[in-house]
Amino acid sequence: MKETERLLENKIAVVTGASSGIGKAIALRFSSEGARVIVSSRNLSRCEEVVEKIQRDNNVGVAISCDVRKEEDVKGLFDQAVSEYGGIDIVIANAGISGGSKMIEEHTIEEWNQVMETNLTGVFLTAREAYRRMKKCGGHLILMSSQAGVEGYAKKGLYCATKFGVRGLGHAMAEEGREHKIIVSTICPGTVDTPILAASNTKVKHPMSPDAIADAAVYLARQRGNSMVRDLIVERMNLG
Ligand SMILES: NC(=O)c1ccc[n+]([C@@H]2O[C@H](COP(=O)([O-])OP(=O)(O)OC[C@H]3O[C@@H](n4cnc5c(N)ncnc54)[C@H](OP(=O)(O)O)[C@@H]3O)[C@@H](O)[C@H]2O)c1
Repeated sequence: MKETERLLENKIAVVTGASSGIGKAIALRFSSEGARVIVSSRNLSRCEEVVEKIQRDNNVGVAISCDVRKEEDVKGLFDQAVSEYGGIDIVIANAGISGGSKMIEEHTIEEWNQVMETNLTGVFLTAREAYRRMKKCGGHLILMSSQAGVEGYAKKGLYCATKFGVRGLGHAMAEEGREHKIIVSTICPGTVDTPILAASNTKVKHPMSPDAIADAAVYLARQRGNSMVRDLIVERMNLG
């Protein structure tokens, strides 16, 4: 490979939850690899800050506000993305929140609904809209699950339920996507150093960098030929 070759040159990528943490790292990494990135979250000004950084580095991006819980917002995000760049190659359904840290028996129905709406309904709406837009030309759909979507953890029950659900949705969509050349994968990270940790009351000494997850996303977005990665589990080396 030539040293100057960029891995995602001219690809068009939508990233939800890109104002912070893992989504922001993916947006920045994708743009540095040559993708034109649609940076999205509820908070437009924080997305615009990410786009300013993209543009300072002479790369291409646009900020669009979208609350993934709202069907009209998600449709609007994809309409705007297509009118801005003409199509969509890669979608990262990344937006998510913590489910707090409590035993299941202590949770209220309101808390359950809140985390479901963002982490599962939000991923469903994003993935469905992406799939509809990708049916003609194919594409890569990457859903953000978690290690908590592979194994259960005490006091993380609501979050685990949503992240197992994301993997189920991804596996079903991978089957449906075959005939349309839509590759569907999930990323299942262990603990990553982002603001969500404080919200979930998670304390570990050696969280991963969001850049490690951005590397995984680039790898998945580069899948070619007759191959498809279903789940990519990214664990911490040092479990302290
Ligand atoms: N950090 C970890 O250890 C870890 C491990 C495994 C998986 N994950 C997953 O990785 C994803 C990103 O989390 P993170 O760790 O990067 O946390 P973060 O820094 O808190 O980022 C969460 C992002 O989601 C956005 N968001 C939240 N609710 C939204 C909504 N209704 N509509 C649109 N955007 C929304 C937030 O933006 P606004 O507030 O601007 O809307 C923010 O950009 C999540 O799905 C999380 O579950 C994280």
